[in-house]
Amino acid sequence: MKAPHSSENIGADKASDTHSFPDGFVKGFSKFNRAQRMAVITKDLDESIVEALDQLLYADESLQAVFSEISENHLSNHVLPLGIVPNVLVNNELYHVPVVIEESSVVAAASRAAGFWALHGGFQVEILGTLKKGQIHFTWTGDKTWLFEQIELLKSPMLVATAPETSGMQKRGGGITAIALLDFTASLQHYYQLDVSFETADAMGANFINSCLEKMGEVLDTHFSKQQQQGHFERIMSILSNHTPECLVRCTVSCAINELQAMSADWSPTEFARRFKTAVDMANVSVSRAVTHNKGILNGVDGLVLATGNDWRAVEAAGHAYAAKDGRYRSLSHAEINDDLFSYTLTLPLAIGTVGGLTQIHPLVKQVLKILRNPNAQQLMMLMAALGMANNFSALTSLVTSGIQKGHMKMHLGNVLHQLGASPEQKIAALEYFSGQTISYASVEKFLKEFPGNTHVSQ
Ligand code: MEV
Repeated sequence: MKAPHSSENIGADKASDTHSFPDGFVKGFSKFNRAQRMAVITKDLDESIVEALDQLLYADESLQAVFSEISENHLSNHVLPLGIVPNVLVNNELYHVPVVIEESSVVAAASRAAGFWALHGGFQVEILGTLKKGQIHFTWTGDKTWLFEQIELLKSPMLVATAPETSGMQKRGGGITAIALLDFTASLQHYYQLDVSFETADAMGANFINSCLEKMGEVLDTHFSKQQQQGHFERIMSILSNHTPECLVRCTVSCAINELQAMSADWSPTEFARRFKTAVDMANVSVSRAVTHNKGILNGVDGLVLATGNDWRAVEAAGHAYAAKDGRYRSLSHAEINDDLFSYTLTLPLAIGTVGGLTQIHPLVKQVLKILRNPNAQQLMMLMAALGMANNFSALTSLVTSGIQKGHMKMHLGNVLHQLGASPEQKIAALEYFSGQTISYASVEKFLKEFPGNTHVSQ
């Protein structure tokens, strides 16, 4: 086996590339097998790194093959904990929801709020829309009116061209629902978009949308190449949009204000509700606060997005764009106090799927979907919104009462103890000691240093 790992092994890439490669540049890495990749990456590193990377491979080769093929240039598996948020009551149906998250206290926070709301009517969730969009971005130098007329004429041939993609989707209730030409020339010279609307049933639909757009783009290319006397058409790209303001879910919780008694020992339910609503209103007017507030919502959403093999970058991007829909970034949630009624609403876009993508491939995703009783995409959207609401409600409850660090550091204590190499005996003693103390990394370190014997603490 020969593993090229420096510029000596590298020839110029393609005839046109005359640049010399920097030292250490690797050519053809994607064609290496794992052993070759390992040789390149761990070449000058400690042997223990090889052991650590090998250790996280599955012994079962067919299982490992699944992970090795999910994305490219695979070296090892990166593992995150899968936990459960129990007692999530959504539209009167109870779920125990699996989540994957690296941040301690997120599962505990969601569980606390889910448990409270399960006893107070649960999360009422509705789907406001499931529409997704994609665009063909192009430039056109000719007459605008003529272009609009041509696009009208081309709608039918474009739909015909996408039939191989749409016929299967139509059987599942999806397909292309609208085609519109948008004029961006006031902002960028010659820029137009063909804006295409899709329903993608239970799939997130990225591949479906992109395939349809490329087929439609070819129809445009062919048509306008024969009409060059009218102007110059240039298709720049065809791609779905992750801005999905019409693929929307709304989650509401509400209760009589006096039922919020359980939220704080220090504040009356009325004072708690007032402080809570003020905190939400602050996130509506301050971008600094809104980003953190919405991050707390996404803590819950992302845990389930990851657990179900969905695209969390798309969910994040769409959520933030929606939060800025009126030109200013705001809170995704909204609190109301009407007489003695407290109500709290979260509205967010969620373009996710329960078929396609990783759902049929990743062995744990399959199990997660089974635990959730194999939801369709809309049911999964509702669960995600409920978890987002649960985390946000819990975070704000802590913030406006005891502060976030008390609960957070309590949950984080285990991580700090592990990091400092505490023995089982020290861990038990620390958990007891810190139950009534403020926890910080320094205070835990000090506690362990002063612990009788002190043989297990890494210095
Ligand atoms: C931490 O992961 C999330 C919070 O910062 C959210 C918030 O401030 O609302 C606690």
